[in-house]
Amino acid sequence: EPTKLWGGRFASGPAEAMAALSLSTHFDWRLAPYDIAGSRAHARVLHQAGLLTADELDRMHRGLDVLAADVESGAFQPVVEDEDVHTALERGLLERVGTDLGGKLRAGRSRNDQVATLFRMWLRDATRRVAAGVLDVVDALAGQAQAHPDAVLPGRTHLQHAQPVLLGHHLLAHCQALLRDVSRLRDWDARTAFSPYGSGALAGSSLGLDPQAVAAELGFDGGAVDNSIDGTASRDFAAESAFCLAMLAVNLSRVAEEVIIWNTAEFRYVTLDDAWATGSSIMPQKKNPDVAELARGKSGRLIGNLTGLLATLKAQPLAYNRDLQEDKEPVFDSVEQLDLLLPAMAGMLGTLTFHTERLAELAPAGFTLATDIAEWLVRQGVPFRVAHEASGECVRTAEARDVGLNDLTDEELAAAHPALTPAVREVLTVPGSIASRDSHGGTAPDRVNEQRDRVFEAIREHRAW
Ligand code: ARG
Repeated sequence: EPTKLWGGRFASGPAEAMAALSLSTHFDWRLAPYDIAGSRAHARVLHQAGLLTADELDRMHRGLDVLAADVESGAFQPVVEDEDVHTALERGLLERVGTDLGGKLRAGRSRNDQVATLFRMWLRDATRRVAAGVLDVVDALAGQAQAHPDAVLPGRTHLQHAQPVLLGHHLLAHCQALLRDVSRLRDWDARTAFSPYGSGALAGSSLGLDPQAVAAELGFDGGAVDNSIDGTASRDFAAESAFCLAMLAVNLSRVAEEVIIWNTAEFRYVTLDDAWATGSSIMPQKKNPDVAELARGKSGRLIGNLTGLLATLKAQPLAYNRDLQEDKEPVFDSVEQLDLLLPAMAGMLGTLTFHTERLAELAPAGFTLATDIAEWLVRQGVPFRVAHEASGECVRTAEARDVGLNDLTDEELAAAHPALTPAVREVLTVPGSIASRDSHGGTAPDRVNEQRDRVFEAIREHRAW
């Protein structure tokens, strides 16, 4: 005799196709441990409200413990007649404590407030795991910065050579974005730390239950939600989570795209460690950056999860609608993809070999020191508009002779502007240029070292979350 949570007003059971459409245990079963934790807390407030004796509470808790162990071991599983995780676990409880006692637990709660609560609980735990994985990626990038304190490369805008920068400065830029992803997850968590349990179907309960006690027992530091309709109907926490995860994936895809470019024969900036690359089934020479490509690809998938969920939520009237059952799979999927991706990204980035001699050779190429000439002239009192023209003329002369800016003769420099004395050559080297950019956040070695220390400090602080 399958357990149904409804049926009194129905003369027949659901059609097969109806039941198949309705079924959600294949994805909501992962909420089972949270469902049981919710049931333990709910039993306690039923007891406090005088609806369960002390003995009944004790038997209920012991039954839930056995059920939790059986779920954990796999001894208890959902069957096809179980509509969802809540239905399956009610059957499991009735089988363990009998229908008289087991049938009392549903008083004052609904699957609507249950599922809204359990989804938040699952997601809050998953978010901490994701954040830890992001910090491993940040650690790998900052570790590379630390391992190459003097390495330089041509900084780019429009993918064209722009100005030389320290490799560490560039890698730490990715760290900054990823650390913001982590603080965004923490901000999200603070907004999500409110429990809908006790909202019932939508209107609250007449049974004298204590939603604040349930919230406290389930680790919702914000307490119970302030509005039972909102508690059961709102899913902005799910959409915001999908955004935070999609933004993270997009930031990872930007690192990944650079690794893919850096790894080409034309760039030859990096070599991938064998453990984090793949081969070709036909071309024996191939060593492909699949981790980075999957990062780039999965970012599209996570964007899709966000937009799909927003479309599901759009224009739903209050309060609960069954559409909301579609809220979970996109978010579960985003988390699962990141569970796979983050360790691989940390591994790939942490084991990259940077070809620092080649990077140093390329750093001044493409006249990346032209801005240094202009800024040097400004420091001699020349208006920037004039200095820009003069430096541009130096570039034109050097280009015509196919030499670098630091190969220009004293006469050629003076011809571009009378203030351009041979002393300008102090900034016409890559280290000179880099050392001169010592503003806060700039690429000078001292500034980059300070920044790197702050990044390591932020990693430590976030890990204590
Ligand atoms: N499985 C549903 C969900 O994920 C919860 C059940 C609510 N069902 C209902 N008929 N009120 O949203």
